[in-house]
Amino acid sequence: MSAAQPVWLFGYGSLIFRPAIPFVERRPARVRGWTRRFWQWSTDHRGEPWRPGRVVTLVPAPEDCCWGMVYRLAEADADAILADLDVRERGGYVRMEIEVELHTLVEQALAPSPASPQVVAGLTYQGWPGNRNYAGPAPIDEIASQVILATGPSGTNADYVRDLDTALNALGVEDTHVVALAARLGE
Ligand code: BEZ
Repeated sequence: MSAAQPVWLFGYGSLIFRPAIPFVERRPARVRGWTRRFWQWSTDHRGEPWRPGRVVTLVPAPEDCCWGMVYRLAEADADAILADLDVRERGGYVRMEIEVELHTLVEQALAPSPASPQVVAGLTYQGWPGNRNYAGPAPIDEIASQVILATGPSGTNADYVRDLDTALNALGVEDTHVVALAARLGE
């Protein structure tokens, strides 16, 4: 994708609550046909190689969707921001193109969805099965026990889950996988 086009970066994990990138505009957003799962090991942000944490990736799910936040990057900065993110998110993720529905924030919450939301060509990061940090599915209690033990340079794995849960709640989005994991961490 050329940097002469608007660049929309879709975040569904820490990019929702800690984008740490310059952006021109941000919008709540939905991608259809994908769901969010804690199926990626983190050995460099929320865990360490000998005790990895679990972070989210997008998993194909034809009947489902994933809500997140999309950031419009300044055209002049986009290449540099993406190059930095390619390094920051190098733990097995690859950049991929994705269709993103744009929604609206009103007082930090998601406004009612229009009948026909605008769809733009966006970019996101994806940890495909088989990448070197792919953790794959596991029972939620097993995921919780791994999360509770893990911590890395960006903070504890439990805080990552709680911050994601809080950010989705603030938007009024219910993601049952995130809610179930956050609930187990509170137990
Ligand atoms: C995210 O926050 O959306 C994200 C960032 C890097 C890799 C995967 C997901």
